[in-house]
Amino acid sequence: MFKPYKIKVVEPVRLLSRAERERKLQEADYNVFRLRAEDIYIDLLTDSGTGAMSHAQWGALMQGDESYAGARSFYRLEKAVKDIFGFRYFMPTHQGRAAEHILFSTLVKPGDLVPNNMHFDTTRANVLAAGGEPIDLVIEDAYDPTKEHPFKGNMDVDALEALIRKHGRERIPLIMLTITNNSGGGQPVSLKNIRAVSEIARAYRIPFFLDACRFAENCFFIKEREPGFSQKKPIEIAREIFALADGMTFSAKKDAIANIGGLLAMNDEDLYWRCVQKLILFEGFPTYGGLAGRDLEAIAIGLYEALDEEYLRDRIGQTRYMGERLKAEKIPIIEPIGGHAVYIDALRFLPHIPQKELPAQALVIALYREGGVRAVEIGSTMFAKRDEKTGQEIYPRLELVRLAIPRRVYTQEHLDHVVETLKQIRDQRDTIRGVKLIFGEGPLRHFIARFVPL
Ligand code: F0G
Repeated sequence: MFKPYKIKVVEPVRLLSRAERERKLQEADYNVFRLRAEDIYIDLLTDSGTGAMSHAQWGALMQGDESYAGARSFYRLEKAVKDIFGFRYFMPTHQGRAAEHILFSTLVKPGDLVPNNMHFDTTRANVLAAGGEPIDLVIEDAYDPTKEHPFKGNMDVDALEALIRKHGRERIPLIMLTITNNSGGGQPVSLKNIRAVSEIARAYRIPFFLDACRFAENCFFIKEREPGFSQKKPIEIAREIFALADGMTFSAKKDAIANIGGLLAMNDEDLYWRCVQKLILFEGFPTYGGLAGRDLEAIAIGLYEALDEEYLRDRIGQTRYMGERLKAEKIPIIEPIGGHAVYIDALRFLPHIPQKELPAQALVIALYREGGVRAVEIGSTMFAKRDEKTGQEIYPRLELVRLAIPRRVYTQEHLDHVVETLKQIRDQRDTIRGVKLIFGEGPLRHFIARFVPL
């Protein structure tokens, strides 16, 4: 496969012995968020902020204008944001969740409902923090890991309309769509579906926002899979997508290939000024919003690099390469293979571990123990809810381990090591035991949780 870049700077990594890794796991209470990164060989915890910046981005850091107000770097970013996303107003934030916090705390009242195809952890927690109820309305096929569907991130538009009819538009302050759908396997949303959601939002006069973290990857899938788009450039598809929305939240740590940053954008002037008040209070003046001028420079460049077709083919090609190899080894993954990560279906991989013993977390632990690989659980630690009446845990329908691939960081050999580690685990999977959560509560407990092996 054509590789559209070469390596200029390297960062050493090391592989500890199995005995050392076992000790590190114990010290970390079996939560890989508590490991030290230097003790990890291949870090697939997240693709967020972990990408390798280009020489153009590194060069631009020196041109960062660090003025408090009116920095040149802001105007450079504004030019890119206008060109790609087109919204009338925008503000930089220190990362995506800050944009979510400002938006939801401004729009969402206690008792409100916020539909999304699927909320990611911080998005969900921010809706809850504003007193709202996050509602996932992804199509039913998304819950079947083996079902092939080109746009498994699509929203069930009938369910969306039914929700609005049932509760009334007054209780729904905004409708969101996450592109690509992270919690459901990095699956794209079709332009047809985005248009359908936009039409419903307009018909009921409800603001429609995109959670655009991985918009460029979503554009690539549209180009590849949706009839009528094969000749279009990703940036042209992006412009079509964003023209259908009233605003967006964005984490520049993903498809702007920056190490930090986020954006909140909208067309509504009144909403902009209400959000700006909070931005100044929590983030910073509107022309830097919680970032250094140099970060704004890196984002302005990274947005275009992430939309480069050759880059996207390589990027999604890496994910596909690892996914196809795992499939060939009969390791159950979510299909089709998503954009930024391969998701292992822990319920099928470790069928002997019941969901209450957290099979996905058990697999995350095994990956580090056997290969020094760090993955992340997207399962019951992250998404189980407690029924308020009965006190019973309600487990999510998907119990996944996500292998998220940082942008432009790992080589094929690194990915092969991950596959070899999983083959080894597969061959001894009967010996893997579940775990018990002994510390951590609430919708963000996975970050701080402690476990003991059963
Ligand atoms: N929305 C989605 C779909 C995300 O995946 C994330 C972050 C956010 C919002 C929040 O952005 O981290 O800049 O505050 N996801 C990362 C991940 C952390 O690992 O998938 P942030």
